[in-house]
Amino acid sequence: MRFDELSYEEAPLIRGTVPGPKSKDFLDLQVKLEGRPVSYPKGSPIAFKRGFGATIQDADNNVFIDFFGGAGVLALGHCNPYIDEKVREVQQNITHTLDFPSEIRMELVEKILNILPGNLRSNSKIVFGGPTGSDAIESAIKLSKIITKRHGIIAFEGAYHGMTSGALALTSGKFWKKNYLPLIPEVHFVPYAYSYRCPFKTKTAVECAEASASYYEHVLEDPHSGIVDPAMTIIEPIQGEGGSIVPHNIFVKRIADISNKYEIPIVFDEIQAGFCRTGKFFSSEHSGASPDIMTISKALGGGFPLSAIAYRQDLDVWSKAAHIGTFRGNVTAMAAGSASIDFMLENNLAKYAEELGNYLLNKLEKSEKNSGIVGEVRGKGLMIGIEIVEDKETKKPSSELCTRIRDEMFQKGVIIEIGGHYNNVLRFLPPLIITKKLAETGVDICIESIEKVESEIA
Ligand SMILES: Cc1ncc(COP(=O)(O)O)c(C=O)c1O
Repeated sequence: MRFDELSYEEAPLIRGTVPGPKSKDFLDLQVKLEGRPVSYPKGSPIAFKRGFGATIQDADNNVFIDFFGGAGVLALGHCNPYIDEKVREVQQNITHTLDFPSEIRMELVEKILNILPGNLRSNSKIVFGGPTGSDAIESAIKLSKIITKRHGIIAFEGAYHGMTSGALALTSGKFWKKNYLPLIPEVHFVPYAYSYRCPFKTKTAVECAEASASYYEHVLEDPHSGIVDPAMTIIEPIQGEGGSIVPHNIFVKRIADISNKYEIPIVFDEIQAGFCRTGKFFSSEHSGASPDIMTISKALGGGFPLSAIAYRQDLDVWSKAAHIGTFRGNVTAMAAGSASIDFMLENNLAKYAEELGNYLLNKLEKSEKNSGIVGEVRGKGLMIGIEIVEDKETKKPSSELCTRIRDEMFQKGVIIEIGGHYNNVLRFLPPLIITKKLAETGVDICIESIEKVESEIA
């Protein structure tokens, strides 16, 4: 398929300042009618009219380049005709199936089993839960407790695993949790190999990975670490919301090996980084490590809500109805997901994401050298982060400058989100079908916006 036919290649196309009058009306109405937790439109204030590929038309007919990709859901872009055709076909025949088998469901399960990483490939069981990533996390928590008959969980600093009670307990951001404590007990956070801000003050990425993994082993080995043997350890092989953090390849492998040594089920959360995003089908493939349980969602449903866990067959020790929910296994999402896996394989999307990602990273790294406020550019495939700081020497994070850059990009027609420990990382998560031309235009706008903001503070 020609990717340039999926998007509006002339984007961005901005008429005046944004938001325009029609977007403003919808945004005002939303404030009036919906509750305060609405968040994305506060950062990127537009109302959507149409999405096509890696571009979005707003209510005033401005066209934006979408570097946000529905928070990673839209790997194949908005309204991909390849997916739409399958969706329309299934919708004419069936609407809702709970967890009864159907041709489309079984087709998807078989396709997932064939693409799983490491020891999971063709040696796993799949369980669909409720349609969000958080629900997959809840189900992994339950399964690991049943397997081990233990309770505690080890998660990593910078982790994001969702907002339901169990998933929130494993999410590290204090802002999200502070009003809801106590959540599930006995959750412990250990350092992730975030080499730019390594808590062990190491100099290189490999040293940070070694030190962080050794510390993980230390808390398991030392009888006085205070951490009783947990039911599971959960890790994002490449962290998303934590700031697009790519640890050195040895890190995830060592965490998996140590977990195996201490007989602790290791869960890889591939909800954001999975499905070709980082240049491999799953982000753990960069390290060659294998999980016992893996959580998947976002791009799994080809743009529709769907989540699941995959785990080794011998861990299938739970009983009927151990994790249920009305919307587990939405059939429309399954049709879209099935078509989406075909599309990824037929178009070798992992390789495309890898090559385009390398090209963009190269471009951004050049600008990193010339800028006084770009602390670090990092990423794998089309999961890229730019960490913004007040000062490169002190590495003092600047959420304020990062927000100004995001706003500047928005005015120029590029939608991008912010994440990271200090809310100071510009996070690129474009649809993987974005063309080189659009991606390059978006990156040029990003570089220009960084330069503009930097010149304003000089
Ligand atoms: C790695 C990871 N895990 C879990 C979740 C939670 O998924 P959801 O928002 O669909 O509940 C997210 C969402 O951003 C995520 O990035």
